[in-house]
Amino acid sequence: MEGAATYLVAWRGDEPLGAGMVQWGGCLGPEARAAFPGAVEINHVQVREEFRGQGVGTSLIGAAENLAAGRGRTQVAIAVNDENPEAARLYARLGYAPTGVLDVSEYDWTDDDGVVHHAIERDQLLVKELTTLALSTSD
Ligand SMILES: CC(C)(COP(=O)(O)OP(=O)(O)OC[C@H]1O[C@@H](n2cnc3c(N)ncnc32)[C@H](O)[C@@H]1OP(=O)(O)O)[C@@H](O)C(=O)NCCC(=O)NCCS
Repeated sequence: MEGAATYLVAWRGDEPLGAGMVQWGGCLGPEARAAFPGAVEINHVQVREEFRGQGVGTSLIGAAENLAAGRGRTQVAIAVNDENPEAARLYARLGYAPTGVLDVSEYDWTDDDGVVHHAIERDQLLVKELTTLALSTSD
């Protein structure tokens, strides 16, 4: 669907450092979508390993929030895997609150030796309410 998502890339000069997506149609997980139907979802946030811990992820999320606010959206969500506490800590620091809403996905994947593995992923939805500022001046 055209315009359903925005792909963000963080650059330093000519070097791409990381990327993320803003899903305008809302959360992809069915439980998340049912619980927060008005939210914009940020997903696929990924920073190249050698550039992690330098604020790139923080900048990507800030840029996504600014885009959302610019479209008048006030609620932003991120789903985080329960085996990714480092990312969860970053999102908590950026103001994303746990909701207890879980989406569980199961899938099979094949490793380099042709062995099929069954995986179960549990993603908890974190939500942030954006603050909008109305600035007024008086002379
Ligand atoms: C999670 C991720 C996007 C953060 O990006 P980043 O550019 O390292 O983030 P920032 O520099 O803005 O913030 C650093 C914070 O990220 C977290 N972090 C997670 N993994 C990290 C890593 N490998 N190295 C450094 N920080 C990491 C830490 O909590 C750190 O916080 P701290 O300063 O309190 O230790 C990045 O580590 C990444 O791509 N990880 C692999 C993919 C992933 O887990 N994506 C999230 C899916 S929900």
